[in-house]
Amino acid sequence: MVAVVAAVLVLAASILIARWWRDSPTGAAFVAEFPGAVAPPPGTPEGFPAWLSWTHFLNGFFLLFIVSSALHLRSKARPIAFVTRRNRLPRTANPPKRLGLHTWWHLVVVVLWIATGLVYVALLLVSGHWARIVPTEWSVVPNAISAGVQYLSLDWPAHTSWAYYNSLQVLFYGATVFVAAPLALATGLRLSPVWPERWMRNHGPLSDAWARQTHSLVLWFYLAFTVVHVGLVLLTGARRNLNAMYLGIDDGESWLGAVVFAGSVIVMAVAWVLLRPHAQVAIAERVADVRRMPVAPR
Ligand code: HEM
Ligand code: HEM
Repeated sequence: MVAVVAAVLVLAASILIARWWRDSPTGAAFVAEFPGAVAPPPGTPEGFPAWLSWTHFLNGFFLLFIVSSALHLRSKARPIAFVTRRNRLPRTANPPKRLGLHTWWHLVVVVLWIATGLVYVALLLVSGHWARIVPTEWSVVPNAISAGVQYLSLDWPAHTSWAYYNSLQVLFYGATVFVAAPLALATGLRLSPVWPERWMRNHGPLSDAWARQTHSLVLWFYLAFTVVHVGLVLLTGARRNLNAMYLGIDDGESWLGAVVFAGSVIVMAVAWVLLRPHAQVAIAERVADVRRMPVAPR
């Protein structure tokens, strides 16, 4: 409760400071010189192709399960079952390790998430869309500060997403795809049973503690990013943003994108209810050896 009140007070103070600075001669001159966005190199495509809508949806869909299994893992509660891979494909010299249900499910969904990510990054590269989320000149830094001040002063930066994102979006989208995801993968592989024991250490980046802390940091980054990202998508012209991302059309009037978005949330909610831990055990039993744990007496 104290933390919530403190956060609201800090936010209110930041809004007042941002408004005051924007109205000061220095602030006004800065925003005039750096309006908050840098046009990408000529030839960068505009708009939102269908592959972007689909990979963006699948990313959120899989992250829902990655994050919920991650929160189960962090709670350290005893899983309701243990899963051991059958040593067929791939066949390994060492016998497969027994995994708690949440670790197994985390890894199953991670494989699907990584596959989606690889398709997305490959299409970003071949289509030229990569230049929409990767900074190509240093002026994105002052422009990102300018966009940040404009958001905070509640006088939003110019909305140019169809043609190109503002610099703050470029930095955060780029970091989400090209920093946070590879960091999750590297530290996750270090924690996973595929990591060879001879490459483990007691201290430093190859240690358990370091990998676990960095891996959890990615979780907090994704959660904070998603809250702010979805909040801003809805506050800064929800209909235009949702039409762009969910239908690939540049339209600020139609409600269709909002309807498709609502449908996608329902799909995620239904999948989440259908794929609770007991259903995960049933799936695991089809492909692996499963040991269900007896229910603790009340
Ligand atoms: C990208 C590929 C990923 C791999 C290979 C991976 C793998 C793993 C593994 C092996 C564990 C250890 C489970 C155990 O202790 O039994 C783990 C735990 C965890 N994972 Fe991931 N993971 C990945 C992505 C993610 C992502 C994207 C997030 C967050 C959004 C995440 C959040 C967590 C958290 C919070 C834990 C628990 C850490 C703790 O014990 O405190 N993982 N992951
Ligand atoms: C489910 C709720 C979500 C909604 C409604 C949503 C909506 C959007 C919209 C409308 C855009 C285009 C931005 C604009 O027009 O200004 C966008 C871009 C983006 N979103 Fe989301 N988003 C959601 C969840 C997420 C999550 C969970 C992540 C990752 C953790 C994410 C990562 C991104 C990235 C990286 C881009 C830039 C993609 C590109 O252009 O290549 N989004 N999102």
